[in-house]
Amino acid sequence: MKFLKKSMFIFYSGILLIFLNVCKSGRETKMKYDIYTLKNANGLEAKITNYGGILMSLMVPDRNGQFADIVLGYDTVEEYVKNNPYFGVIVGRYANRIAKGKFTLDGEEYILAKNNGENHLHGGIKGFGAVKWNAEKIEGPNGKSLKLTYLSKDGEEGYPGNLSVAVVYTLTDDNELKIDYSATTDKTTIVNLTNHSYFNLAGQGEGDILGHILMINADRFTPINRNFIPTGELRPVRGTPFDFTKPTAIGARINQKNEQLIFGNGYDHNWVLNKKDAELSLAARVYEPRTGRVMEVYTTEPGIQFYTGNFLDGSIKGKGGKVYKFRYGFCLETQHFPDSPNKPDFPSVVLKPGEKYTQTTIYKFLIK
Ligand code: BGC
Repeated sequence: MKFLKKSMFIFYSGILLIFLNVCKSGRETKMKYDIYTLKNANGLEAKITNYGGILMSLMVPDRNGQFADIVLGYDTVEEYVKNNPYFGVIVGRYANRIAKGKFTLDGEEYILAKNNGENHLHGGIKGFGAVKWNAEKIEGPNGKSLKLTYLSKDGEEGYPGNLSVAVVYTLTDDNELKIDYSATTDKTTIVNLTNHSYFNLAGQGEGDILGHILMINADRFTPINRNFIPTGELRPVRGTPFDFTKPTAIGARINQKNEQLIFGNGYDHNWVLNKKDAELSLAARVYEPRTGRVMEVYTTEPGIQFYTGNFLDGSIKGKGGKVYKFRYGFCLETQHFPDSPNKPDFPSVVLKPGEKYTQTTIYKFLIK
């Protein structure tokens, strides 16, 4: 009898514990992260979460005034937490690759995680796109903004220095999504921040992006080796499938037997923008002929990574149950060049105490 009572007690306590845990995890996933909405006077709408600073959705009209969400992603924050090929995230501390996950600063070698073959990619195992940011809605001079802040501790992911980062998303009444990044450090470090949205101007999940017409304001690009690391050369695009100085369909040359396209499995390269210093200037323009949506990208950065979603393979089910197949989205990541910490001839990514890192990028929406 005593034995029966004891086992009943253990059984019911077990059930209670499981029940309490389920409630707790439900509460945690619900409470942990928030979603903020920015709207402008023309009905454009951006949703951003404080998990990774992810741009979860961006509603933009077509030439008939029909709104569609033009960024790939998930309906819930929990799905981003589970598995995210960088959909919409803020990338840092160093966007793109660092060869062999190491670099030297002031004579000291720093070792980072090798989370992409033998290289370090997008800030490491838990980059800025997978951490919780502080968020605050603010009313800026150009419209409604969301200010995100994050303190990346000295040694986080192997990087030196406490880096204090701020990212402000603003949706202006000129139909621009403006992203202002800034950072300061207490020890010499490296910084390269960007946003990793995958766009499809026909609407997320609405087919591949090969028919989009692209212009990139760059006469040169940084060719890569088989491991996606720049060779150091700034190669002229003229006469190659990398020439987007005149608007050209993304798919027009993507399958050519070109060594660089083979290495990248398509476009997955950094272009060297035509510009003076760090002026805010036009980097790229994309036009989607079916819907008439146009996106212009302006940036203060010297480079832009154009990536054609070559690693999408249909295994991800995104928003509204849409399946993201090969090349269903493209990224235009404004940035410093990949592997700059190991390429003394590339523009510097070093940030010293007392200095302020800044970068501004604008995604502007128009119709044609
Ligand atoms: C890189 C790709 C990488 C992708 C991950 C891009 O920024 O250029 O090589 O696979 O991010 O989503």
